[in-house]
Amino acid sequence: MNTNKKAYIETFGCQMNERDSEIMGQMLATADYSPTRDIKQADVIVINTCSIREKAEQKVYSLLGRIRKLKEEKPSLIISVAGCVAQQEGERLQARMEHVDIVIGPQHIYKLPELVDKAAQRNKPQPAVDLSPGFTIPPYSPPSPAKSSLKREEIGAKPAYKKFVTIMQGCNNFCTYCVVPYTRGRETSRPPKDIVAEISDLAQQGAKEVTLLGQNVNSYGLVSDGSLQYIPFPELLKKVSTVDGVERIRFTTSHPKDLSPELIECFATVEKLCPHFHLPVQSGSNRILRKMNRKYTIEQYLERVEALRQARPDIALTTDIIVGFPGESDEDFQATMQLLDTVRYHGAFSFKYSDRPQAKAIAFDNKIDEQVKSERLKILQERQNDISLQRNREYEGSVQLVMTEGVSKNGDGQWSGRTMSNIIVNFDGPALFPGQEVQVRITEGLLHSLRGVIA
Ligand code: SAH
Ligand code: SF4
Ligand code: F3S
Repeated sequence: MNTNKKAYIETFGCQMNERDSEIMGQMLATADYSPTRDIKQADVIVINTCSIREKAEQKVYSLLGRIRKLKEEKPSLIISVAGCVAQQEGERLQARMEHVDIVIGPQHIYKLPELVDKAAQRNKPQPAVDLSPGFTIPPYSPPSPAKSSLKREEIGAKPAYKKFVTIMQGCNNFCTYCVVPYTRGRETSRPPKDIVAEISDLAQQGAKEVTLLGQNVNSYGLVSDGSLQYIPFPELLKKVSTVDGVERIRFTTSHPKDLSPELIECFATVEKLCPHFHLPVQSGSNRILRKMNRKYTIEQYLERVEALRQARPDIALTTDIIVGFPGESDEDFQATMQLLDTVRYHGAFSFKYSDRPQAKAIAFDNKIDEQVKSERLKILQERQNDISLQRNREYEGSVQLVMTEGVSKNGDGQWSGRTMSNIIVNFDGPALFPGQEVQVRITEGLLHSLRGVIA
């Protein structure tokens, strides 16, 4: 019997969180909560939070403040906070926001239906936030419409052509600015057979592109003493590439220190592996990299960039950069600017440093003035925009294999899709379906996208 209960999920943060939200949505659907995009209709609200920067955390509190009155209007409403802020704050969060019923950390998402049940019986559950060093991701089981009165598509089992698959989670690196090791716990990898089973199921349901996810996918399969628990990441890539139906493979994120020659080689040999690499550098200054505990030098980083470009000349590189790390001098900042010109990234995400709870850098001296951080960020983003535009213009006149995503948001009635190198292309063409690949001749390179016509 369909009781017509509704679940609303809002996601902040990274793709790991997006995938976790999808899993929570599927579990709630199995418990007969169908998804809604209207928060006012919800019987259960899940806010999957991110704590990576101060701003990200503030967004969560402002949303929680706004939904307080929904709970006043409908006392049976169950409000859950999941993700990295939940993990970081635990009981403090419930103390500060008494309308929150459930606090659930990333290692505990699988308990959500149980906690929702408890909360529905007016039995406020304890925050589920202990981080266990021995945590493992539960074995794969396909989302089951059989256990629910909802239809297959309502439980999110109906595939999109493009899916995320978590292969590992947690982080052992302890970069001094970063909260993730404290919110996601230690690295843990899923067995290859679970990953391949999940991807095979997705492919059977029509998935054409998979992105393998982890905070640090390059150390997939390793345990903390450095020994190998499963196959190394390059072997996993090869295994995944044998799954019929999957046409494009991507992965994120990588740590430069763990980028092995074997992985670089995959860009030359694994045909389905897309020529795009997100390789966060964080700073162009060796002095700052040391203080960040990044464990590589710019010279080593550039060697790897060179090797990637040799293996796959059309590879598009993107990165993450932090400006205004404690003690960053003008000279250090200039080294980062120099790096942009040396690498010529296709794109870069750049952020002002912010202190995070538990992260070591919170205690570092020589914190940089907010205004200086803002100025540096602006200078950096302007330069990167110039470079991104030049990079996109380099595609003009070429023919690219584009996977259609849907109707373009530009309002011109065009299609929108992505190149193998992950760049958005808006193009005119006949009726297409999402996931369909077409050859597109690129007519114009813009800052964030390309324009083209079907070749
Ligand atoms: N696991 C990934 C990145 C995860 S966080 C990696 O190792 O690269 C995404 C990005 O947020 C980071 O690459 C970094 O650039 C930025 N970031 C993390 N902590 C930050 C902080 N305290 N202040 C500003 N930016 C931060
Ligand atoms: Fe954070 Fe560093 Fe781990 Fe990335 S590698 S999640 S930046 S600690
Ligand atoms: Fe944010 Fe946690 Fe991801 S802090 S970036 S949601 S791992």
